[in-house]
Amino acid sequence: MEFHIEVNSRQISVSEGETLLTALQRNGIRVPTLCHMNRFSPTGACRLCVVEVEGKRDLITSCSYPVEKNMKVLTNSQRVIKARKALVELLLSNHPDDCLYCQRNGNCELQWLAEEMNVKERKYFSEKKLYFPDHSAPSVSRDPAKCVLCSRCVRVCEETQLVTAIDFIDRSNETTVNSAFKKGLNINSCINCGQCIMVCPTAALVDVSHLEKVQAALDHAKKKVVFLVSPSATASVAEELGIKVHANISGIIAAALKKCGAYRVFDLGVSCDRNIAFEVAELAEMIDKNERKLLFSSCCPAWVKYVEAFRPEWKSMLASAKSPQQLMGSLLKFDTDASMEASREELFTVSVLPCVGKKYESSKEEMTHKGVSEVDAVLTIREFFRLIRTHGIDMKNIKEESLDIPYNASSAAALKMGYSGGKAEAIAMELYVQATGGSDNFKFIIPKSLIAKKESKVSVKGRTVGFAWVSGIAEADAYISSVLEGQRSDINYIEVMACPGGCAGGGGQPIYRHQYKTKNRKKTLQEMEKFCHHKTAGLK
Ligand code: SF4
Ligand code: SF4
Ligand code: FES
Repeated sequence: MEFHIEVNSRQISVSEGETLLTALQRNGIRVPTLCHMNRFSPTGACRLCVVEVEGKRDLITSCSYPVEKNMKVLTNSQRVIKARKALVELLLSNHPDDCLYCQRNGNCELQWLAEEMNVKERKYFSEKKLYFPDHSAPSVSRDPAKCVLCSRCVRVCEETQLVTAIDFIDRSNETTVNSAFKKGLNINSCINCGQCIMVCPTAALVDVSHLEKVQAALDHAKKKVVFLVSPSATASVAEELGIKVHANISGIIAAALKKCGAYRVFDLGVSCDRNIAFEVAELAEMIDKNERKLLFSSCCPAWVKYVEAFRPEWKSMLASAKSPQQLMGSLLKFDTDASMEASREELFTVSVLPCVGKKYESSKEEMTHKGVSEVDAVLTIREFFRLIRTHGIDMKNIKEESLDIPYNASSAAALKMGYSGGKAEAIAMELYVQATGGSDNFKFIIPKSLIAKKESKVSVKGRTVGFAWVSGIAEADAYISSVLEGQRSDINYIEVMACPGGCAGGGGQPIYRHQYKTKNRKKTLQEMEKFCHHKTAGLK
């Protein structure tokens, strides 16, 4: 039911049951927030969203308070402004003063709030506790001194990822966000998805940087640095540069990396195509032999770790193909046909991806052979731009260069791997093309019912093969459990991406102020698919 309330002497339309904050935002009235996250239950932890409601003695937190009939609200009264400013001053009272060399300098919600509240000095000085940063994990670093206890990471880890690798520990002013028994993220259940980094307002959670070792390799006289640029990285680069998608975005990236000193720049999409081809072969064999019922994609390292740690009974259903990153790394380092004109010890392979889980994947023991890693370093999109900035390169005004032969051309299917549902479609199409010899009559039917929103079926030589796609571990776990418990035989392949929306929402994507661009990135990737000569991974 719709009704009106008064806000700042103006009538606005609200819906019964919604929170005051939602109603204010929908009506274009800005209220600062810190702990609030859309689609998550409110915690009321930060109190920054306070407003004054006529008849209430105390200020109320708009993110958790439902709209009421005859409400009269003031969002910016002197009392409200004073209270919010005091809250920010308290948050700053024991915050480190290293903004100039902080990874989130210029992109920190605490800085923005201080500026917005006109905080000009440190008003309160509270005791600085001795916090120990946690650099133990391969993908995510924690600095508790920068934590403002907003709980966003705790909620995303628990509610979106079902992992609960981090939680509040200790009480009152001793409270910190920490891993179990304060033992460090490396030895607990963290799946290295990086979703906590994406929601953290400060630099309390950041990706483990590989920039220094990449720069050291670039500076090393005997190292030849080979960059492997993922298709989804190209969409993120186009977005960050604000340039219209065209056929040669990767040419801009190649030129920039060559200026940094790259020996070769390859398209990681080539091994995305290989990965798809391997999974299709496994799926086709499974269907032919009728031995197994279900195959899960295995290219997302966070999903693989989740299965290994939490659902070992599902492990046999994971596809056996290596991920695109490791396929390309092992090809370059260990396949003599790769003709890299350099020894494997000289080669230094660096992938560029919107993913922090790939840092963990590249560090796994089975990805290293006699001390030689298949992939030596992984740069997130954030790190890629830091590298480019350090080298003083203006990517908007750079002359494109070709990617290097022979790994310079991938298909539209490789781009599809960048968003949730894309890989399932690519696998279905490949299966269809291999069975029928063409894609002319290929249809990836998406039924209309709500539950079937992420399922589709493809008819191959009179047989129906069922596909599904899920992203976010909580969604994946619930969906797969329902398929298994329901003993559904109509679903044969499930694409799982740990990050909501797939790599388009990956933990290594740029972090923007108040903006989540997952849907836009998917659109960009789909736009880029139109420029591909080859539509399927088999390059037909
Ligand atoms: S990386 Fe993922 S699993 Fe690990 S703490 Fe962060 S949200 Fe949780
Ligand atoms: S680590 Fe970051 S996201 Fe988590 S509670 Fe602290 S400030 Fe909030
Ligand atoms: S945003 Fe409402 S209490 Fe934090």
